[in-house]
Amino acid sequence: MNWKNRVTDILGSQYPIIQGAFAGFGTSALAAPVSDAGGFGIITAGALHTPEGLREDIRKARSMTDKPFGVNLSVGLCPQIDEMREVAIEEEVPVIFTAVYRAEEHGRRIHQAGLKWVHKVATVHHALAAERQGADAVVIVGLEGAGFKSISQLPTLIAITTAARMMKVPLIAAGGIGDARGFLATLGMGAEGIYMGTRFMATRECPISERYKQAMVDAQSWDPKYRDRALAPPKAEEYEKVMKEKGEAVTGEWLMRLERVLIKESPDVPRDWQSDFRDDDPEVAVRVTGGSLAVGVIDSVVSVKELIDTIIGEAEQILSQQGNLGSLLA
Ligand SMILES: Cc1cc2nc3c(=O)[nH]c(=O)nc-3n(C[C@H](O)[C@H](O)[C@H](O)COP(=O)(O)O)c2cc1C
Repeated sequence: MNWKNRVTDILGSQYPIIQGAFAGFGTSALAAPVSDAGGFGIITAGALHTPEGLREDIRKARSMTDKPFGVNLSVGLCPQIDEMREVAIEEEVPVIFTAVYRAEEHGRRIHQAGLKWVHKVATVHHALAAERQGADAVVIVGLEGAGFKSISQLPTLIAITTAARMMKVPLIAAGGIGDARGFLATLGMGAEGIYMGTRFMATRECPISERYKQAMVDAQSWDPKYRDRALAPPKAEEYEKVMKEKGEAVTGEWLMRLERVLIKESPDVPRDWQSDFRDDDPEVAVRVTGGSLAVGVIDSVVSVKELIDTIIGEAEQILSQQGNLGSLLA
């Protein structure tokens, strides 16, 4: 089957399957194999710490694959973000993804350099704003997904179906997606691609501890420990408290506190993104697993290529005459 659509046109990838950004470990080690297997890998600038580190990693990825990949700039989190953006532009990374907070100025600069700009948001109203600001495509992360939560975030199904009725730019769905069924379902909702974080973490190439990967295989999406962590919105009182501190603290420190509230962890206990995911301690593995209900469809640790081939192969089977969708049309 030919999986070409507006998203693959923007990305230059074979399939509309994108690997999410990861603070701490989102480097070429994962991004290059994803692109090489026909998906679209993303290097998270902040995971490389410095613009020089990012440049080196982009070049390393180029030595690993001749397929296109992107760079993520997480506004408010990424150090030296303007310099990071310029490195991505100088290195001619074809698509730059922004995320977390407003990124209009970055988008303008990315377009001025002749590159594509995709912005990731957690709510429909932010998706509409990104479209107005000129993003070439918008990723919407539903409540089922890992990462920053918004107090007005919707589950993936209703977020995508609502946005698809209102928006013209291509939509990319994220949040709780990890297999062919989830992939095809989001296309039915009106998305033109998927963006997976958690599922790509349980791959051989992902540079996190094996115990953490096993914790994802063992986790059940209906376990209240995981379900409630993903679906409950951030605590309103914690959110209001941290919002009142805005302007009092140094911006970077305040953003870190806000981030802690939005991922529903205590603002007073900072997370160490670098060590948490390399830590082999089972307690840590369980604590950091379960930001996403995609754990429900992770049943083994496979290579990135096996994962992408399986999603595409099973999707084609479902759409074929023997499959439950294809047979309806036969
Ligand atoms: C450990 C971890 C770190 C993440 N770090 C970032 C980040 O730095 N920037 C960002 O935009 N998203 C980040 N995300 C969110 C993912 O890019 C993606 O939006 C999310 O995982 C999608 O939901 P899913 O896990 O259900 O697929 C992170 C997610 C995880 C699990």
